[in-house]
Amino acid sequence: MYAAIINQITSRIDFLYYNTHMYDELPLDQILQGNCLEILNQLPENSIELIFADPPYNLQLQNDLWRPNMTRVAAVDDVWDKFDGFQAYDKFTLAWLSACRRVLKDTGAIWVIGTYHNIFRVGAILQDLGFWILNDVVWIKTNPMPNFRGVRFTNAHETLIWATKNRRAHNAFNHRLMKSLNDDLQMRSDWLLPICSGPERIKVDGKKAHSTQKPEALLYRVLLASSRPGDVVLDPFFGSGTTGAVAKKLHRHWIGIELETGYITIASQRLAAVQPEPDDQRLFAADPPRRKIHPVRFGSLLENGLLKPGQQLYFRANRSQAARVKTDGKLLLDGTEGSIHQLGRQLSSGSPCNGWEHWYYEAENGQLQPIDRLRQLLADRMERPDESE
Ligand SMILES: C[S@@+](CC[C@H](N)C(=O)[O-])C[C@H]1O[C@@H](n2cnc3c(N)ncnc32)[C@H](O)[C@@H]1O
Repeated sequence: MYAAIINQITSRIDFLYYNTHMYDELPLDQILQGNCLEILNQLPENSIELIFADPPYNLQLQNDLWRPNMTRVAAVDDVWDKFDGFQAYDKFTLAWLSACRRVLKDTGAIWVIGTYHNIFRVGAILQDLGFWILNDVVWIKTNPMPNFRGVRFTNAHETLIWATKNRRAHNAFNHRLMKSLNDDLQMRSDWLLPICSGPERIKVDGKKAHSTQKPEALLYRVLLASSRPGDVVLDPFFGSGTTGAVAKKLHRHWIGIELETGYITIASQRLAAVQPEPDDQRLFAADPPRRKIHPVRFGSLLENGLLKPGQQLYFRANRSQAARVKTDGKLLLDGTEGSIHQLGRQLSSGSPCNGWEHWYYEAENGQLQPIDRLRQLLADRMERPDESE
């Protein structure tokens, strides 16, 4: 079925090539009005580093929803969210994802956000088109809308799919930056963030200006994780311009595509009000460069007296898994010997193991510390100029 649809789209793309304006260069930091299916095909191919897409969800709401106090819930019932069933929605999804794929650089990546209404369909089509899924991230809403009728679980999350154009290469994952943002713990795929509310929520005459305005915190994390300053971030469903606002604050270029004039007005005003601090490498750089560590071998710890032959090392700080250090730098445990990495791997049921991080020694104060600390100590000593003369 998809092959037939792809054919239809390809012939449509040819049509657009000959009949519409083509941009020779990327229209950076602009909102382009129109249908993203058409506009994406006017942009140069292989030109965009990152796409964030918050497409129509095809919510299929049947009836109005009322609170117990008889006020009507402002649900998403906009015309742009209506499709004639799943087939029409799949066709639309295939078309815009194909168009995104064309403009993405080979090292580019895409994030798509959705709910149970659409995200499984989006995921399957992404894979059919050859995208490579890196993660799905669950945005857990700390303050979700209650389920007033009490007939289902409160729907308290949305799902984001992060995928690259190709399996091997991608532009950026600033994992050290993410770790640092998370109090030096590896960032997980469940993100607890509030929905957009309070002063951040744009209102016109007291009413929400856009029914699905996303919180800037969500975009902050997405853009910080997977782009660099100067990269081009495109949002084909720009809405109130959240992606652009955050991109501008983080010194990324942005391009927004949006159908509706009203939303474009709101987004333009929003973008104009964003005045980021001047770009400064020290403040806005992507992942900090990895600190160059002097290449210290495990055996050097013995040669330099930081460990002694016969000393005990504990796997993952577990005193019941103690190996002894041999003079040749190998470890011995229950008759098995190997390097810190080999033995670590065996104890991890064959999973790769960086022995520097997983073997611990007993420090002078009796506490267990990773041997990586000794490596760092020795590396510093080796690099420090001799000031004794
Ligand atoms: C889910 S909302 C995006 C909200 C946005 N992330 C925000 O934070 O404000 C989807 C938006 O896409 C727009 N839209 C729907 N179909 C479109 C299409 N084919 N081309 C361009 N925009 C479209 C709608 O008008 C709507 O503003």
